[in-house]
Amino acid sequence: MDVARTAVSVMGLEDKETTDSSPEANLRKALRIFAKTPTALAAFYRIRKGKKIIKPKKTLTFSENFFYMCFGKVPQKEIVKAFDVSLILYAEHSFNVSTFTARTITSSLSDIHGAITGAIASLKGPLHGGANEEVMHMMNKIKKPENALNWINTALKNKEVVMGFGHRVYKSGDSRVPTMREYFGKVAKIKKDKKFEKIYDIVEKVMIKEKNIYPNVDYPTGPTYHLMGFDTDFFTPIFVISRITGWSAHIMEQHAANKLIRPLAKYKGNKHRKVMQLNYR
Ligand code: COA
Repeated sequence: MDVARTAVSVMGLEDKETTDSSPEANLRKALRIFAKTPTALAAFYRIRKGKKIIKPKKTLTFSENFFYMCFGKVPQKEIVKAFDVSLILYAEHSFNVSTFTARTITSSLSDIHGAITGAIASLKGPLHGGANEEVMHMMNKIKKPENALNWINTALKNKEVVMGFGHRVYKSGDSRVPTMREYFGKVAKIKKDKKFEKIYDIVEKVMIKEKNIYPNVDYPTGPTYHLMGFDTDFFTPIFVISRITGWSAHIMEQHAANKLIRPLAKYKGNKHRKVMQLNYR
């Protein structure tokens, strides 16, 4: 996520249209950020493994190219389809924290690169986009399906926050989950690895029964990206390459009808405080 955030910030430094926030320039810049960010991330994916950078191919689709640039090959159609579906589900989701961040930055009439850089910082947090990585850490801690029941019961007893569950808006289920759950199952079948699906089902069942808390979309995407072969710290950057589209649309909308976003804070502290003069302290 630090690489994604820094890459977009550097793009802002290099882009000849950074200071032009007209709708036309914003659309061109959004497309450039959307095209370059996965390329930059895939390059980093390879470099840190000591491998050569792979350039994208014009003949491949957006998702095929991302696999190709990371792994040097394109997987089966069904895997690419599952990745495509995850990107579609992640692309836009109204006034979530990162989108609100992007809107707020834009509202001072700042530029799209700055707004997306800030949005990436916001998405990184484990209560937002970072949850898909936390889900994988949790599943790795559980290790095998036989441990899942005990693990989740202990977590609930200790009042732990279970990652990939709950949502500020969806209180009776995230509408994106059934679709992603289906594709998680398809990927697990292709990879002949049902372990994470079994853990998934046990934890979900207990969370709904004991807490009436449902999974959010990060719950199925985490293990799906793992089965696809991505390193865990790449799950939220994958979310970024998709959400750039949603953020960009909001940023352009904000620029088109701007009003400064400036909430008021309600002060609840001491009413009167005596301040001692410096020479008496
Ligand atoms: N695990 C355990 N308990 C949870 C929970 C979770 N994932 N999500 C909510 N709860 C509990 C809260 O602790 C609270 O309990 P309390 O009333 O005993 O204090 C209760 O459920 C109500 O939660 P609420 O305050 O309505 O949730 P919120 O709107 O403040 O929080 C999230 C929403 C997303 C921040 C929260 O569900 C969470 O932290 N989830 C895990 C991170 C995650 O998956 N984020 C991705 C979101 S798309």
